[in-house]
Amino acid sequence: MITANTVAEVRAQVKQWKKEGKTIGLVPTMGYLHEGHASLMKRAREENDIVVVSIFVNPIQFGPTEDLASYPRDFHRDSEVCQRMGVDLIFHPDPEGMYQENFCTYVDMDVLTEQLCGKSRPTHFRGVQTVVSKLFHIAAPDRAYFGEKDAQQLAVIRRMARDLNFDIEIVGCPIVREEDGLAKSSRNAYLNQEERQAALVLSRSIREGKRLIEGGETDAAAVKASMRSIIASEPLARIDYVEIVDGDSLQPMDTINGLVLGAVAVYIGKTRLIDNTGFIEG
Ligand code: PAJ
Repeated sequence: MITANTVAEVRAQVKQWKKEGKTIGLVPTMGYLHEGHASLMKRAREENDIVVVSIFVNPIQFGPTEDLASYPRDFHRDSEVCQRMGVDLIFHPDPEGMYQENFCTYVDMDVLTEQLCGKSRPTHFRGVQTVVSKLFHIAAPDRAYFGEKDAQQLAVIRRMARDLNFDIEIVGCPIVREEDGLAKSSRNAYLNQEERQAALVLSRSIREGKRLIEGGETDAAAVKASMRSIIASEPLARIDYVEIVDGDSLQPMDTINGLVLGAVAVYIGKTRLIDNTGFIEG
């Protein structure tokens, strides 16, 4: 397994692989890898000759009051995970290597970024799209793998790839959960024991929303009210949003119909966690 810290190293290696006719799968991450990330690597391993994983805590997708400085990092352990998953190359740049002095070019999007996480994190998706575009240009993958855990991110990347003609297949992978239902996340590391228990309200509310929608409930307000009441029953939890949106436009809907997404963002203490139902037929 190769570890590359510079764009030039990755480009040279990718050029060689392309010359040999090899297909490349890219898994972009911010590190502190867990089974959710590993599931993306596994899928990439099955579908490509070469698997590239990027590990980069991307500063421009964090807001000024967010957790950039404290975001958990452990490159040594991450490297072992990648080795175990059969990764060929880890791209682990430093921020200066990705954002040269006077960097001022961004990839942005309307509509899809206006709801859900985009509402409470107004510059987040601009940062995600910009770094993912850069990674696409650097690693030139045939396929790129993203988790449904970040359903809005997946929808945004799919749309970006379509709108900007990236010739890359965007592969969505299902949410990996702890045994008790909590969606795996690097940010779960922030939770103390009491908060870890409280965090179960996210998956419980998601399960309830899914149950109601699949049972034929079409009134979005009723579904959201049930989901909210589960979260509200937990004193350590504070709701950022509870939403039912159209699966294509990500706009809130009153009457549930067609492909929909139920999504929540909840503060457990100081930690903001997200979860969603996956795109389901309502
Ligand atoms: P990060 O949070 O590290 O997640 C990297 C990838 O792993 C994302 O596609 C995310 O959806 C997926 N993932 C995380 N937890 C998951 C889980 N429990 N089940 C399945 N997949 C999961 O998302 C980012 O990093 C960044 O925004 C990035 C795309 C790398 C751009 O900086």
